[in-house]
Amino acid sequence: MAIEKVAVAGCGLMGSGIAQVSAQAGFPTVVREVNEALLEKGLKSIEKNLDRLVEKGSLSAADRDAARGRLKGTTRIEDLAGADIVVEAIIEKLEAKREFWSVLEPLCKPHTIFASNTSSLSITEMAFATKRPQRFVGMHFFNPVPVMKLVEVIRTIATDDAAFEEAYAFGQRLGKTAVKATDRTGFIVNRLLLPFLLDSIRAVEEGLASIEDIDNSMKLGCGHPMGPLTLLDFVGHDTTYYIANIMFEEFKEKRFAPPPLLKRMVLAGWNGRKSGRGFYDYSDPKNPKPMKLV
Ligand code: 3HC
Repeated sequence: MAIEKVAVAGCGLMGSGIAQVSAQAGFPTVVREVNEALLEKGLKSIEKNLDRLVEKGSLSAADRDAARGRLKGTTRIEDLAGADIVVEAIIEKLEAKREFWSVLEPLCKPHTIFASNTSSLSITEMAFATKRPQRFVGMHFFNPVPVMKLVEVIRTIATDDAAFEEAYAFGQRLGKTAVKATDRTGFIVNRLLLPFLLDSIRAVEEGLASIEDIDNSMKLGCGHPMGPLTLLDFVGHDTTYYIANIMFEEFKEKRFAPPPLLKRMVLAGWNGRKSGRGFYDYSDPKNPKPMKLV
């Protein structure tokens, strides 16, 4: 059964991006936040992104207006009920997600696919908190969602082939390259990315090189769009610390263990770009200055 109507739960950084690409791809899309203030903030950021595309000439004003017209914001969970797929991008806490799915479940049609955008929680655990584990998948997008071309589509041991293929095809219809993964903590990208990012912090701790030289090495020596310390600031240290703890808990391997410097920065609230400080000081956002941390 082809997906025609889309619902997105959460209009934060990830949810707003997913709602934007869904509306741009032609799907009538309902996006829900828990209150009006958060909803308005999310919708404004989508409008700003669409306007920027028009200013750059990569989207016509008519296509922007059509995409905006396909997008409906709401604070009512009932408004998600008519969708063929619900993509959940709410707070990264298992209890909150289980509660969300359990309230939504009885409102939805039996064929509706449930997809979580979690980066590190167990899809299996969430799926079995609903009555439709066979139609439950992970769809893990990357920040910034409108720009990053990948979506990981994740199946559990209970996901049926039809639901998985529908979700996979939906990822492609959003204009993304979809990859298939099984439900193992961190999936593909974070399984490989986290040890690399955490090692870059260990390199700072050990005094291997300066923050700027570590970043420039990976940018210019390996062609990465951002150095690892800049990327950590971009993702947010609280997020990375949270993911690392879950992955370490799962695999009990040192490469996933959060380095002490990361913990100290989280305790200090120096969570990166969004909090004004991380490996760089963003007082002047266009010209970040490396911090003195060790
Ligand atoms: N929303 C929409 N578009 C954006 C954007 C945003 N937040 N930020 C940048 N863009 C667009 C710009 O408008 C620009 O578009 P154009 O090429 O059509 O003009 C394009 O992206 C490039 O932006 P900039 O020129 O401003 O800056 P950069 O060239 O430095 O690109 C970047 C910015 C796309 C963020 C690039 O640095 C990058 O790819 N960085 C790596 C990001 C990454 O690795 N993300 C994954 C994080 S891990 C994750 O999400 C998983 C989770 O589980 C932790």
